[in-house]
Amino acid sequence: MYSRIVIVFTLFVALEAGSAHYVTQERVCFPESFQFGVATASYQIEGAWNVSGKGESIWDSYTHMYPERIFDHKTGDVAADSYHLFKEDVKLMVKLGVQYYRFSISWPRILPNGLSNEINKDGIRYYNELMDELIQNNIQPMVTMYHWDLPKSLQELGGWTNPIIADYFVDYARVLFNNFGNKVSAWLTFNEPLSFCQGGYGGLDAPGDQASGFEDYLCGHNVLRAHGMVYRMYQEEFEAKLLTSVGITLDFSWLEPAMESLEDKIAAETARQFFFGWFAHPIFSSIGDYPQIMRKRIDSISKKQGFHRSRLPYFTTEEIEMIRGSADFLGLNHYTTYLVAKSKKKISSEPSFAADMGGIISQKSSWPKSNSTWLKVVPWGFRLSLNWVKRAYNNPLVVITENGVSLEKGLLDKRRIEYIDGYLKALHTAITKDHCNVYGYTYWSLIDNFEWTRGYSERFGLYQVDFDSPNKTRKPRISSEYYARVARTKCLPIWDF
Ligand code: BGC
Repeated sequence: MYSRIVIVFTLFVALEAGSAHYVTQERVCFPESFQFGVATASYQIEGAWNVSGKGESIWDSYTHMYPERIFDHKTGDVAADSYHLFKEDVKLMVKLGVQYYRFSISWPRILPNGLSNEINKDGIRYYNELMDELIQNNIQPMVTMYHWDLPKSLQELGGWTNPIIADYFVDYARVLFNNFGNKVSAWLTFNEPLSFCQGGYGGLDAPGDQASGFEDYLCGHNVLRAHGMVYRMYQEEFEAKLLTSVGITLDFSWLEPAMESLEDKIAAETARQFFFGWFAHPIFSSIGDYPQIMRKRIDSISKKQGFHRSRLPYFTTEEIEMIRGSADFLGLNHYTTYLVAKSKKKISSEPSFAADMGGIISQKSSWPKSNSTWLKVVPWGFRLSLNWVKRAYNNPLVVITENGVSLEKGLLDKRRIEYIDGYLKALHTAITKDHCNVYGYTYWSLIDNFEWTRGYSERFGLYQVDFDSPNKTRKPRISSEYYARVARTKCLPIWDF
C-alpha cells in the first residue's frame, strides 16, 4: 500500500548549477497521502526583536548579555527578518510545493510579559497574516507553541524550573487556541524538551544555568506537566469545536552500542531511555511515568551523593494519568547517530545527567561529516530510531518534524541532496517494510537562520540567506529544486551529477 515503485522517463532538468539531471531508473515513492513540509522557528528567523509591543525573550537577553557565548558573537535581533519578509518566505514554499509549514509562535510576541493579562495585538495580527497567506496558498500551518524563546519575565521566576510555569503555559496555549485554533492543522506544544532542558538548564544555551543533573530534571518535569495540562485543557475546551490535533516534538538521535558486548548493549538501551524515554515514556507508553531505569539510577545515585530526595522529581498519581496518552501524534526530530559504551568512571559527588545515564557517547570518525560537529550522516540510524519508537510505544502516529543538514555557505549543495535522499530512503523502508506509522516529513530548514550558540555559522537552509544584505536576500540552493521534486511528486528523483 505504502510503496509505489515506478519507472520514470529520462528527464533532464536545467539548473543554475548546470550539472545535475535526472536519469531513468526505478525510484522510491511515498503514498499520495504522505505529506512533505519545511520548518523554521520564531527566534531563528523572525528578527524584529523589540518592535510593535513584543516582549523580551531569554534568547534576546542572552545574546545581548553574553555575546562571547555565541560562536560569531551575533544575535537574532534581525535574523532573516521573516517578521517583515514572511510573504517572501511563503513564495519560496509555493515554489517548493510543500503541503505544510512548521513554524513556531514567539510567546513574548503574543504575551509581552509572559502572562495572559496583556495580549499584544500586533503579535496576533502577524501570525494571523502569516497563516492566512499560507492557507491561501494551500499550505497548512503546523505550529509549535514553544521553540525555546521564553519570555524573560518568566525566567526571572526560575523559568521551567518553577512549577507555576505550567499554569502560565496553559494560559498562553488558551490564547493561541482562541485566536488561531481553526487555522492550524496540527499543534506541537514543545520543540525538543531534551535540548532546551539540557542545553538551557544543564548547559550553555539560554538561560545558561549549567546545573546538569538537577535543573534539567526540574525543567523536564514541569514541561511534561505543562504539556499534559495543555492537552487536557484542549480536550475540555476546544476539541469539539476545532478541527486540529495536538502533539509534541521530541528529538531522538539513534544510540547504537559501541561494541557488540552485552554491557554496551545495556548502556545503549539505558541511554535511549534517558535521552528519549525521559519525555516519551510518560506520554506515549501504556504505563506512563518516567522510564523505570531512569527512576532507579537517579534515585540510587542521588542517595549515594547524600541527597535527601531524588534529583528526579516524582509525579503524583493524578499527574501520571494526566500526562499518559496526552498526544494525538508524536513529532520526531532526527538528525544523526551516536555510539554508546558503558562508562567505567566512578560516580562523583557532583550531579550530572551524563553520570546518571552512565554511558560514554561518541561518533565514528569515518561517518561522513557535516558543518556541525555533532551531526554525522548516518541514515541507517533513522530507520532504527523509527523501529524503536514503534516497538516501545505501540506504533504511534508519527510525523517527522525535523531532519536536515548543515553545510558550508554556497548554492551547489549536492551533499544536502545526498543527505535528504539517504534519510528519505531509510524513512521509506521504515514505512513500507517495517510498517512504522509515519505520515509526514519536514525538512529543517526552509532558509538559513540563527543557529543558537553557533550564530549564523551553520547553514541548514534549502534557500541561502545573505545576512549581510539589507533585505536578507534569499537564493535557491540546488537542494531546493530536488526537494520541490520530492514534495510535488512524492517520489525521490534520481540524480546524476
Ligand atoms: C532544533 C532547531 C535547530 C536544529 C539544527 C534542532 O534541534 O529544533 O532549532 O536549528 O536542531 O541544529
